Amino acid sequence: MLERVLSARRSPRGPEEDGDDESKTRKHASLAARAAKCAAGGGTAAFLTQCLAISLLLLLGSLFYRFGSLACEPQYESRPRLALFEDTDGQASDFGSLGVPWCKHLLCRSKQGKTVEWTRKDLLRGLEEFVPIYEARPIKNNKFGMGFDHSFGLWFTTRWLKPELMIESGAFKGHSTWVLRQAIPDTRIISLTPRHPEKYLNKGPAYVDGNCTYFAGKDFIDFGSVDWRAIMQKHGVSDLSRVLVFFDDHQNELKRLKQALKAGFQHLVFEDNYDTGTGDHYSLRQICDQFYIRGGGHSCFTDSDEARIRMTRKKFWEKAVDMEELCGEGETWWGVRGEMRDDFNHSNKAISYSEHFQNSRFVESVLDVYWELPPTAGPSLTHQTRYDPARTPDPIVEDGRYDLFQRLGLSRLETSVFNGYTQMVYLKISGPNS
Ligand SMILES: C[S@@+](CC[C@H](N)C(=O)[O-])C[C@H]1O[C@@H](n2cnc3c(N)ncnc32)[C@H](O)[C@@H]1O
Repeated sequence: MLERVLSARRSPRGPEEDGDDESKTRKHASLAARAAKCAAGGGTAAFLTQCLAISLLLLLGSLFYRFGSLACEPQYESRPRLALFEDTDGQASDFGSLGVPWCKHLLCRSKQGKTVEWTRKDLLRGLEEFVPIYEARPIKNNKFGMGFDHSFGLWFTTRWLKPELMIESGAFKGHSTWVLRQAIPDTRIISLTPRHPEKYLNKGPAYVDGNCTYFAGKDFIDFGSVDWRAIMQKHGVSDLSRVLVFFDDHQNELKRLKQALKAGFQHLVFEDNYDTGTGDHYSLRQICDQFYIRGGGHSCFTDSDEARIRMTRKKFWEKAVDMEELCGEGETWWGVRGEMRDDFNHSNKAISYSEHFQNSRFVESVLDVYWELPPTAGPSLTHQTRYDPARTPDPIVEDGRYDLFQRLGLSRLETSVFNGYTQMVYLKISGPNS
């Protein structure tokens, strides 16, 4: 059975993933060693609990081996990953060794394996249209807010979904409000943000929308405390499937997901879907990073291949996570070093692996669709140096496609606008029993 679990966690998809077999095996050898110890018997109550947990993981691993591969298909029509970046240093082949949950584009599992309607071609067409819009943005320097990738992702999903009402939590100077407005010119926006964007106007560019209800300043109210039924009534919205909620407020995404479910909202976009070991709030991506998912979970062994590869990658990518950043006391790697962070890391509660595991089961039980926005283009084109491409879906414009990058107008943009990518995610949700 163990052999089956190990092979379940090897990816059958391609040479990049096949190349990391040895490291995957070594990473999971620790699990094997612990399983062998359990089989030998004896030990304390804590040891027996650990054995029970390992057996559960192995059992789940074997179940997911049977059912899992069905959903891990290429996201778009298949193209070879053009390899300027990979050819020069072979780094992209490390992605399996770093514990990429599920597969590169489907990191959380949806209830019925559904995905989005749009294709890579739609994204390319969208990029062509969006670049000139973005060039005309009122806030040119949006440090601490969205850069190009997520502005495009929000604009694209909003335009595709055509909501009757848009809700935004976390507006800062108003750039994301402006993006929503570009996507749909005449639909009402509700913006919840502690400081009114107009307050930034005396310091420089900001955006205040004429068709937006602001819950800001002294009228600020947190998303979780709003009487949404009354607000929907006030705005004449009876069909909640026509509402899009955008979160860029750095709150625990599990908390936000539960609040959105309770209110009956179905379409959500989370801006900062931080990777395991990073960020100031518990994210969907962190929640879905689990041992039982092929390629998911991590080990904290300092002499593992994962540790060595992480150390190397850290030299290339500012936001890559090394072992010290990944693991807290007692080999706690989930969330951020075993913490469930909230509210810009003003709260950072330690959680057990089993709580973390339960959270992922809950999330899976309400997900109809989980779609991570890919980075716009590969790093050899954008020259971004922050996020590690080994932990992202494949870019829309692949490395080596400078002709396409240029044709789409992307070469006109400053390099800095490509530095803020954090796996923005679109979710469609419904109650666990629907
Ligand atoms: C990263 S900024 C948002 C950036 C903005 N969406 C953009 O693209 O430019 C985070 C914002 O969340 C706001 N914020 C903090 N706590 C909040 C809460 N509980 N609800 C809504 N917004 C909150 C902050 O004041 C800040 O304006």
